[in-house]
Amino acid sequence: MPDITVSALGLDYADKTAIDDVSFTARDGEFLTLLGPSGCGKTTTLMSIAGLTNPSRGSITCGADVLFDSARSVNRPPEKRNCGVVFQSYAIWPHMSVAENVGYPLRLRKVRKPEIGSRVREALAMVGLDALADRYPHQLSGGQQQRVALARAVTYSPGVLLLDEPLSNLDAKLREQARGWLKEFQASVGLTTVFVTHDQDEALAMSDRVIVMNDGRIEQEGAPEDIYRRPATPFVASFLGSANLLDGTVDAPGRVRLDGGGQTVAVPEDGPLGGVQVMVRPEDVELMAPGADPDVAPLRGAVTSRMFVGSSYRYVVDCDGQSVTVSARERWEPGPVRLRVDREHCRLFPRDTAAGVAGSDRLEESSYA
Ligand SMILES: Nc1ncnc2c1ncn2[C@@H]1O[C@H](COP(=O)(O)OP(=O)(O)OP(=O)(O)O)[C@@H](O)[C@H]1O
Ligand SMILES: [Mg+2]
Repeated sequence: MPDITVSALGLDYADKTAIDDVSFTARDGEFLTLLGPSGCGKTTTLMSIAGLTNPSRGSITCGADVLFDSARSVNRPPEKRNCGVVFQSYAIWPHMSVAENVGYPLRLRKVRKPEIGSRVREALAMVGLDALADRYPHQLSGGQQQRVALARAVTYSPGVLLLDEPLSNLDAKLREQARGWLKEFQASVGLTTVFVTHDQDEALAMSDRVIVMNDGRIEQEGAPEDIYRRPATPFVASFLGSANLLDGTVDAPGRVRLDGGGQTVAVPEDGPLGGVQVMVRPEDVELMAPGADPDVAPLRGAVTSRMFVGSSYRYVVDCDGQSVTVSARERWEPGPVRLRVDREHCRLFPRDTAAGVAGSDRLEESSYA
C-alpha cells in the first residue's frame, strides 16, 4: 500500500478556519494517530482524506494517485478513494442486521450477491462476530457495535483505515480491552491506519506515531515516547500527560532562578535564555525529608495536598508560591519537604511562547485525602 500524503491542507468555514497548513504522511502499515482537544480539526482532517469533506486548499495523494488537489481542481469521490471509515458515532444502520450492515459497502459497489455473502462472513470472522450475523444493532453491546462498524470498514479490503474515535462510546474497562484488540487487528491485517482520538493514553498506547493538533494546526509529530519525553511546546507538554511548568529566569548556563523565592534548579545548558518555563513531569520529581542534603534535593517546598490515585499518590507541593505536582508511591504528610529534580528530566520553554497554554491538567489544590 502506498503512503498517504497530506500537504498544506486547509479548510475555512465562514467564521472559522477548521484546519490550516496541515501536512503529514501516513506510511505503509503504520498506525498513525491524530491527537488533540475537542474542535482542533481531527475529524475535518480525517474526513478530508476520506473525501467526505471538501478542503479549501492543499492536496492529498496516495502514492502517485492524486485524491485531492485544490490547485488542479482534483477531488476524487469517496467511493473511489479505497478508504475504510469508522465514524465518530459508528453510524451503523439500526434497521439492518449485522450481516446487512457489513455487506452494505459491497452492495454500493455492485459486488455480486454470493461474493457479498462470503466476504461478509470473512469480515465478521476477523472481528470475532461470526455468530451474531443475524442480530440487529439494538441487540448488541457497545463493543460489539464497534466491531460491526470496523468489519464494515474492512469488508471491501480498503488500502487505508480511517478511524474517528472508534472507542469513545465504550466504558473504561471495555475500552481498555478494545484498544489491545484493535491494535492487534490492525497489525495482523497490516492496514495503514489513521486513528483519531482526544485521549492521550489511547494515543500513546496504540500508535506507531502521533500527530498532536491544536486549533487547526499541527504542534508536533513523533513516536509516542519522543513527544512525551521531548515535547516541543508547552501545549504538547500539558496535553500529553501532566506537566509542571515553573516560571523562572536563566541566570547562569544550566541554571534557572525560580520566580517567588529565587531558589535555583539545574537545567540542560542548551535551552533558551532569559525568562523561561521549566517543564518537569510529576513522576520525575522526588520528595525527600526536609532535612535531606540540599546538594541532592535543592528545592524547599511544602506538601499542601495529597490524592490517592491507586498506583501512587499525587501531591501538590507549594514552592514559594508555585505549585509543583508530584507523583510518588510513598505516603507523605502535609508540611515541609525537599524536592529532587534531575537536570536531564527538565525541559525549558521560552516564556513568551508559553502564553495561552490550553489543555493543561495541573492538579487543583483540592481534596486532602
Ligand atoms: N460545518 C461546519 N461549519 C462551521 N464550523 C465547523 C463545521 N464543522 C466543523 N466546524 C468547526 O471546525 C473545527 C474543527 O472541527 P472538527 O470536527 O474537525 O474537530 P475535532 O477535532 O474532530 O473535535 P471533537 O474532538 O470534538 O470531535 C471546530 O471548531 C468546529 O466547530
Ligand atoms: Mg471529531
